[in-house]
Amino acid sequence: MLTQEEMKRAAAEVSLSYVRPGMVLGLGTGSTARHVLEGVARLVREGADLRGVPTSLATAEAAKLLGIPLTSLEEHPELDLAIDGADEVDPALNLIKGMGGALFREKIVAAAAKTFIVVVDGSKVVRRLGTQAPVPVEVHPFGWRTAIRPLETLGGSPELRKRDGEPVRTDNGNYLLDTRFNGIRSPAKLAAAISSIPVVVEHGLFLGMADLALVGTADGVKTMRPSRRP
Ligand code: 5RP
Repeated sequence: MLTQEEMKRAAAEVSLSYVRPGMVLGLGTGSTARHVLEGVARLVREGADLRGVPTSLATAEAAKLLGIPLTSLEEHPELDLAIDGADEVDPALNLIKGMGGALFREKIVAAAAKTFIVVVDGSKVVRRLGTQAPVPVEVHPFGWRTAIRPLETLGGSPELRKRDGEPVRTDNGNYLLDTRFNGIRSPAKLAAAISSIPVVVEHGLFLGMADLALVGTADGVKTMRPSRRP
């Protein structure tokens, strides 16, 4: 019986088969993306000419320690391939991301990539978004409370993410409102409505962005392609 960690690692290993020499990669954030980083570092050690754009300060630090050459969107506004984890994946490959707090940079990097591959274990696959994970909403600290009522009006239950009693700050210095919806009927409508709240910087609904999901399960790694788009 594989552990959850082994399923994550297995999905990450399969994602490496999409990496080609010379590629500029988007490097994701989180425990599954960490397995991808280790695999990319191995390819670099074996002589592959690869560079990565990190989606968080933590990933930048880990990539440096692992010896992965880093670059930026300044130098490479178009990336060949981004590989990242997710908190939920639905059959259309719409995602909830951001429980690791890096959704803002993750979304920019995924959007900049010609191909975006998601790596998860089977526990992240859902029939409907919002049934397991909250939608993290990144808000500017100035006036963050003004987002509470609009998010509630949209059917959400926002909660300020805290660590040791203090609001968590993202790499961009912002706060996060983890907002539970208990099942999202129309992800596209909700995404547009959240984006229209003035203090919102970005949110964790990644719609129509993923090309492929690699899902580590007890029976091996399954490949999901989008069934339909919203
Ligand atoms: C970070 C993310 C992560 O990709 C997501 O939280 C999944 O993390 P893990 O692979 O550790 O379960 O979106 O902002």
